[in-house]
Amino acid sequence: MNATLNVRNPRFTKLDSTTAVTNGKGRFDTGELTPQTTEKAILYLGFDWGTNKSCLKAGYAGKPELAIEEIVPTIVGYAKEGIVDGLLPDNATVLYGQKALQHRLHLNLVQPMVDGVVKDLPAARDFARHLRSLIATPTGTEIRAVIGVPANADAPARENVRQCVAGLFDRVLLVPEPFLAALGFRDETRLSDTSYVDPVRNSLFVDIGGGTTDVCLIQGYYPTADDQVSLAFAGDRVDGLFYDAVRKTYPDCELSPIKVRELKEQFSFVGKPSGPIVATVMVNGKARKLDITEQLGVACGELLNVIFNTVKELISRASSDSVGELLQNIVLTGGGSRIRGLDVELQRLLSEEGYEQPCVRLAGDRYKEFVALGALKAARQARENQWQQVIK
Ligand SMILES: Nc1ncnc2c1ncn2[C@@H]1O[C@H](COP(=O)(O)OP(=O)(O)OP(=O)(O)O)[C@@H](O)[C@H]1O
Ligand SMILES: [Mg+2]
Repeated sequence: MNATLNVRNPRFTKLDSTTAVTNGKGRFDTGELTPQTTEKAILYLGFDWGTNKSCLKAGYAGKPELAIEEIVPTIVGYAKEGIVDGLLPDNATVLYGQKALQHRLHLNLVQPMVDGVVKDLPAARDFARHLRSLIATPTGTEIRAVIGVPANADAPARENVRQCVAGLFDRVLLVPEPFLAALGFRDETRLSDTSYVDPVRNSLFVDIGGGTTDVCLIQGYYPTADDQVSLAFAGDRVDGLFYDAVRKTYPDCELSPIKVRELKEQFSFVGKPSGPIVATVMVNGKARKLDITEQLGVACGELLNVIFNTVKELISRASSDSVGELLQNIVLTGGGSRIRGLDVELQRLLSEEGYEQPCVRLAGDRYKEFVALGALKAARQARENQWQQVIK
């Protein structure tokens, strides 16, 4: 039986443990919440460790306000061999996030996360240490972090995350990202408003990131493995398809991965384009205009197809009693949800497929914060026995 989540009073949420690091095999007991009695200051941390960008939200126990808010590109840059003194700030040997991107010419850039999971353990650990350094706390503060993981992260993937943060945070809890996104998106101040559609009650969340697209049924309890699907097809794959198509049409145009992503983000669309998309790019030092309408449309369209098929699969797994309301509450979030027309086109495809009045909406501009915000809420709600200590 699923541990139920009291949707009216989030303080009494009971998280299932199937993917939490505290207990990878079974569920936690469902005893009552015990009040915090410890004297030590506790900092609760919500940590969205994204493939492209990571987000931190933290607050102290007993204080509702946020103490820390950070969004950092998930990238580590190691200084190239033999680099001249004074080129990098403070002659740093490693730079992170925005600074690493800024100085990329003189760095070997390493992406610690690929497809939503740790790919390069040493770089991931360095990156986690950097994030820890951004969190200034009084001595003796205990840091309890809820960390988002892709919906289907397996035991080795979760273990890697634990290893990376061992010694940096005192206790951790790993929770699937789409569930955290729904929790973060939820507006608790409106729960008594009868017109408010509570995303945690009965919804389908589609989180389209850089590495993975996570689709998850959120039905008032902690999702089980059957309620969620994580696909390694998201923004990075769209970049790859787009790049291949551009190279096919314009073989002499070499575009860097950063330029490819930039063009995609600027012009992305699904459905009918509003007009031809002509981008100006530098080729061998000369500005050149390229028509990229078809190449970008096909690459983004592939992602739409993948999402459509996965959403249908998840709808088929929902109980017949819940499906009517569920169809009214399909929420797109993550950076990929910024693709122009994605909500309208997905809704159109679902309607054409015969689903009853589907309603697809966007989580909105603050998409990057929802997982971390939900993780912070989950951290504040977690019971003492749900936390796991991670020792180096
Ligand atoms: N306007 C846009 N159009 C298309 N794609 C976009 C747009 N804005 C951002 N993206 C894409 O969204 C992706 C990043 O999304 P997000 O920040 O949610 O990912 P992440 O959380 O780092 O990754 P993951 O959840 O897979 O670990 C990138 O591929 C980025 O290019
Ligand atoms: Mg993400």
